[in-house]
Amino acid sequence: MHYTIKNELALNQPDDCLVLPVWENAPLTSLGQTLNEISGGVIAHSREAGDFTGKLAQTRLFYLPISEKNGFSRLLLVGCGTHPKFTPTQFQRVFSCIASEITSLGIHTCCICLPESTQPTPDLSEWSLYQAVLTLEQALYRFDQFKSTQDPLPTLQTLALFIPEKLPNAQAILERALIVAKAVKQARDLGNLPSNICTPHHLAEQALSASQAIPGLKTTVLEEAELAQLGLQAFLAVARGSQEPPKFIVLEYQGTNAEQAPLALVGKGVTFDSGGISLKPGAGMDEMRYDMCGATTVLGVMSAAASLKLPLNLVGIMACTENMPSGKAYKPGDVVTTLSGQTIEILNTDAEGRVILSDALTYVERFKPDTVIDIATLTGAIIVALGDKASGLFTTDDKLAEALCAAGEKSWDRVWRLPLWDEYQEQIKSNIADMANIGSEGGKSITAACLLSRFTHAYRWAHLDIAGTAWISGKNKTATGRPIPLLMEFLFNRAR
Ligand code: BES
Ligand code: MN
Ligand code: ZN
Repeated sequence: MHYTIKNELALNQPDDCLVLPVWENAPLTSLGQTLNEISGGVIAHSREAGDFTGKLAQTRLFYLPISEKNGFSRLLLVGCGTHPKFTPTQFQRVFSCIASEITSLGIHTCCICLPESTQPTPDLSEWSLYQAVLTLEQALYRFDQFKSTQDPLPTLQTLALFIPEKLPNAQAILERALIVAKAVKQARDLGNLPSNICTPHHLAEQALSASQAIPGLKTTVLEEAELAQLGLQAFLAVARGSQEPPKFIVLEYQGTNAEQAPLALVGKGVTFDSGGISLKPGAGMDEMRYDMCGATTVLGVMSAAASLKLPLNLVGIMACTENMPSGKAYKPGDVVTTLSGQTIEILNTDAEGRVILSDALTYVERFKPDTVIDIATLTGAIIVALGDKASGLFTTDDKLAEALCAAGEKSWDRVWRLPLWDEYQEQIKSNIADMANIGSEGGKSITAACLLSRFTHAYRWAHLDIAGTAWISGKNKTATGRPIPLLMEFLFNRAR
């Protein structure tokens, strides 16, 4: 979709449709009044008649004769609900609703007015513009490449966003939003691709082509032999059961002077998690193709940050492999020696994410990062705890926790902090090795994070468990692109 910004209401310019958000309990805004006048009073009439009250996500479409004053042949009213209680969730609902209405019309261009608040601030307008683009792009997303007959594409080509208040940096915000939306789309596509196509090799190719397309982004792909030489035995133990060669992908972006210690992002990239010898049940196993969403988050954030030339130094690791059963697969009872030298007793081969990440978290030390954030679809238990609303956040660093929580609130890609108390460490004791890869008793997401924490002493660290947020399960299963918006917001704040 092509986007433009309109600052002054050029209502007489030709447009196939104009979209006006309307509050339920407030008088018409001045823009609403102007539009009401030039459209012959249809807005006021429909409100008086009770046909359109402005209830959340209610819509009403009017066809209008074109005159010197109005260039739009359609007026779409969209209800925003009650004003003071307007939340980001409602905002997203309004824009998803707009997306579905306007794509069902045979229009080519459309101008959407952003909701006007009673007390507009530049901050709020910036937020609305940014969120409008992200929400529209999320709602317009289709994944139909494997259907032999595709639904006809919407005719819509250009969307103008009309901003009620003057916003000098609107163009820059639009650019930012489009780049983040592109990263989200790529992550969704890769997540949705079946695992017979989206292999570790495919992810490596994606990372290589990203660094070819984006100046300043460097990709190095480490192969099995090299990894063995380096001593990433834990990572390779998980990979051993699969016919697909693993890929350990390293992305680097230098956006500021070389002395500044980088921030590193480490993503779990299990392109298919069968559980291995501790095989998962069959029902819903297809969804384990999403087990690489941590890695695609890393690719998306690195690509977007480099495209936006953020003044930060960044390192991204995508630890990519399948987790499969075979005669060569690692087995319950095996002991693996990690790159750090610590040993892990494997009690369940399905707890593979933490085994992979233990090596990746040690490997990343060589970049002398100041902060490391790992992103992983690590535990089913985080879905029990938080559902699909918040990613689990684990860190012992209060400042880092605060920054991630704040970025979550602003981007509405939220996180919720869980404890990482020492007392939980006892649950991953092993009488054979330094630790076991599963915890006894409850708190399964926490004990998984506890294992990771043992490999993170060289830097500030946070872990995001995104098993509940990175995709939506069931009939309408899809990757969401989360937590890319969260991490981009975190980077924007850090770059300030
Ligand atoms: N990839 C899964 C986590 C997962 C499960 C994500 C369900 C989304 C939905 C992970 O590798 C896993 O299998 N974890 C196990 C750990 C258990 C064996 C201790 C789990 O959570 O069941
Ligand atoms: Mn698993
Ligand atoms: Zn997994």
